[in-house]
Amino acid sequence: ERSFIVSSPGKTILFGEHAVVYGATAVAASISLRTYCRIEPSEKPEIVIKMRDIGTKHSWPLESLPWKAVPAKDVFHPPNTLNNEIVAALEKLLTNEKKSPLVFLSMLCILYLYLQIGSPTQGCVITINSEVPLGAGLGSSATVSVDVATCLLLFFGFIQPPITGESLGRAETLTLIEAWSFIGECCIQGSPSGIDNAAATHGGLIAFRKSTAKTTAMKQFLKLENPLSVLVTDTKQPKSTKELIQRVFRLRERSPLVIDSIFQTIDGISRSAIEALETVTDVFRLREVLGELIFINQKMLEALNVSHVTIEQVINATKSIGPTKLTGAGGGGCTVTLRNTDCSNEMVEDVITELDSLKNSVYDIQLGGPG
Ligand code: PMV
Repeated sequence: ERSFIVSSPGKTILFGEHAVVYGATAVAASISLRTYCRIEPSEKPEIVIKMRDIGTKHSWPLESLPWKAVPAKDVFHPPNTLNNEIVAALEKLLTNEKKSPLVFLSMLCILYLYLQIGSPTQGCVITINSEVPLGAGLGSSATVSVDVATCLLLFFGFIQPPITGESLGRAETLTLIEAWSFIGECCIQGSPSGIDNAAATHGGLIAFRKSTAKTTAMKQFLKLENPLSVLVTDTKQPKSTKELIQRVFRLRERSPLVIDSIFQTIDGISRSAIEALETVTDVFRLREVLGELIFINQKMLEALNVSHVTIEQVINATKSIGPTKLTGAGGGGCTVTLRNTDCSNEMVEDVITELDSLKNSVYDIQLGGPG
């Protein structure tokens, strides 16, 4: 009987949000908050999905699912986006269900099975537990996609534990997990950039850029010699990523010269950060350089009008322990504070107490952990 437990990290954008939409370089990092997933055989011919954090459970009898045998080569080379076949399967499965995030996640699991194994007789139970707050821009859905993809690939024998690979090498295994989790993200998010599931798969730091008329796509994995300590603060202020992206779009329509030069500055910030991460070995010096870049990046995001009073409150409350910027779309959501090397644990605790009293949730975490 095959049971497996896997986990993957959430992520935070360190540099380059918004500008990345227009082709600038961005840097994301894995965080030490993880999502855990267990898969085990079920005694009944059904698929059960339990998400403990939101207290829900769904199950489907195997015979109710539209199975189809797929050649192994299609498992190893999954489509690179949602194809018509997947969309049709999703629509069919979703007609009788409320389209809640849980149902999407569940559909994703079913879909993986549907695409991969033909007509199974062995049911399974998938249990998901997450430390990553949902909907806070920390990549929670991608961690679920990565975990579920890995669990199913293990359960049905396409990859072997530990994920160093016997039939497949480690790099190939990770590529396979990343590709399947991207399909999962497409089911949940629509048109994701792919950075969240890349961070959850590989961990560490990722520099990336998308291709536009003027830029070529780039994805580079960087390893941190020493993990960096940060505070991630969830302001709990609801925000709409779509609306914030539109706000920047309209600003750029009105003042293209000004806004494009801000994007260029942000691109320079990300590139300088990458250079520092690759070349500066002294950890004090590295923090100093990254701290200055965080400060400038936040000023640029304020100029793009995507900051918010709740974010400014966090910036003020954390001034004594290190520089803070918003992370993700802004307008609320989360911030990231790089802890100064000379700040004591007492100072950090005082700041956390103050942030808590302002109704934030604070996570004291490390960046750059394993995938
Ligand atoms: O808040 P999030 O995690 O959805 O991040 C959005 C980041 C943007 O740069 C604003 C958009 C994007 O797709 O890169």
